[in-house]
Amino acid sequence: TPFTAKAASNFDFEPIPANSLDTVTVPKGYSWQVVTQWGDELWSKSIPFDHKTRGTGESQELAIGDNNDGMSLFTVDGHHLLVSNNEYTNRSIMYDNRESKLPETADDIRKSKAAHGVTVVEVKQDGKKWNIVKDSKYNRRITADSPMEISGPARGHDLLKTSADPSGTQSLGTWNNCGNGRTPWGTYLACEENFNGYFSSSDESYTASDELKRYGVKNEDWGYAWATEDDRFDISKNPNEPNRAGYVVEIDPSDPTSTPKKRTALGRFKHENAEVVINKDDHVVVYMGDDERGEFIYRFVSKEKFVEGGDNRNLLDEGQLYVAKFNDDQSGEWLELSPATTGMKSQAEVCIHARIAASKVGATTMDRPEWVASHPKKAEIYCALTNNKNRGKKPNAGGDETPVTGPNPRAANLYGQIVRWRPEGENHTSKAFSWDLFVMAGNPTVHKDTYAGSKNIDAHNMFNSPDGISFDNNGKLWIQTDGKYSNKDDFAGMGNNQMLIGDTETGEIQRFLVGPKECEVTGITWSEDRKTVFVGIQHPGEKGDSTFPGGEGTAPRSAIIAVTKDDGAILG
Ligand code: FEO
Ligand code: CA
Ligand code: CA
Ligand code: CA
Repeated sequence: TPFTAKAASNFDFEPIPANSLDTVTVPKGYSWQVVTQWGDELWSKSIPFDHKTRGTGESQELAIGDNNDGMSLFTVDGHHLLVSNNEYTNRSIMYDNRESKLPETADDIRKSKAAHGVTVVEVKQDGKKWNIVKDSKYNRRITADSPMEISGPARGHDLLKTSADPSGTQSLGTWNNCGNGRTPWGTYLACEENFNGYFSSSDESYTASDELKRYGVKNEDWGYAWATEDDRFDISKNPNEPNRAGYVVEIDPSDPTSTPKKRTALGRFKHENAEVVINKDDHVVVYMGDDERGEFIYRFVSKEKFVEGGDNRNLLDEGQLYVAKFNDDQSGEWLELSPATTGMKSQAEVCIHARIAASKVGATTMDRPEWVASHPKKAEIYCALTNNKNRGKKPNAGGDETPVTGPNPRAANLYGQIVRWRPEGENHTSKAFSWDLFVMAGNPTVHKDTYAGSKNIDAHNMFNSPDGISFDNNGKLWIQTDGKYSNKDDFAGMGNNQMLIGDTETGEIQRFLVGPKECEVTGITWSEDRKTVFVGIQHPGEKGDSTFPGGEGTAPRSAIIAVTKDDGAILG
């Protein structure tokens, strides 16, 4: 299928065609540059990245983490701090110095744990180029071993107590942080997603509880082997440790000595991002997706109100958690999750087992909720439902049946869609909302039926698996994809993963950027002057076919790139 681009558009850029190149492509008149890459040095004492061995535990602890995902740029006393999640690692890439391409030694595990978590790095623009500020007092690595405080309703609950922490109030580390959020009081929210894949059991006969199974915790991990070096990850020895992961973690980038806080009031599930809205009555509302087939969309409403310039530090510790029910008539409602509505013993238990609580109240199973984005100019919220090959099939362990329903109109949903809803009375704390679909992705060149997609999809802008979404200041929706890049059959003409921009008033969607081979485009934030947009390029060459960004003979490395307009104009 030839790649095509449509010239006519309401946007002030010339949309680009899809492609399958091993580089980043942006429209004419725009440029891109690499700002940070996996393994880049944060301090003078750091060790340069070794393309052959791909580093050691020590070098990784002093460097940018792997697989950057969600990110935000903060300005603190004139310093620009780029904070990003380091979601996971590609085992076949990070250990390329041996045949197994898997962790084999204690140092491999140390390196793996250090490659996860969050990176805080100061960046500075010298002329046109954004550079890392080595040795900035703000530079910081938070890893799978960094001390965390557990706060909110579940703090100190029996289900959170372990042999190392009998108080159930202090845990170690954060990992598999996917999307993110930011608060108007200057903190960063790192969202723990597939935390389950790191736990295993040394005792093969161990049977995980039904509650752990609902979260996908099994006797085998996904190949990380952390339990071989750290008993915390051995569920037969520490069955409560998985209950200490799956939260939204609040981090203060302005204070490198601050302890990150796991905000249990926001519920425990496979968090994608956390979209923070200050409602018109100043309550803080956080919208969140649980990225798993047949799981749910949640809302948190703070008890106290946001006060500009006030002490807002613990607003995310007290409030009410809700889950969404979408009706087929395009109405919807938020269902309260509390002991009264679920029959659970305490709000702590409701939060720790949020998925189970949500099933009890009859929430709507969704097609893998990824990022949620709130319109900056009106009460309208968007959520990317990335895809769902299992809708209508057997549910996940302990999960609900998943009939075709509401904003999930396709069985075997290959392409994904973006749902949006408007709270009643433009009030984010209302019980009721109405919803519609902004776009159903599809492939009109291959399909004529519902798999062709919605009216605003044609041969020029087709894509699959919307994932990262974020609004710019002007109310344009930037859409990033994490889908199939085979460019054949159902995915013919779509090329590599990409970023598009949507006009939510007209429905128009145009392609702005195409990523390199085998990457996902994820994570977006803007410079303070809005003249630079930072974009995440995650896992290029995840199947072995990329040398982005270094070129021939180098290891493929996840990177954060900066995109600017050559005439210096504002981008969103
Ligand atoms: Fe880590 Fe749901 O993507
Ligand atoms: Ca990802
Ligand atoms: Ca994602
Ligand atoms: Ca995804």
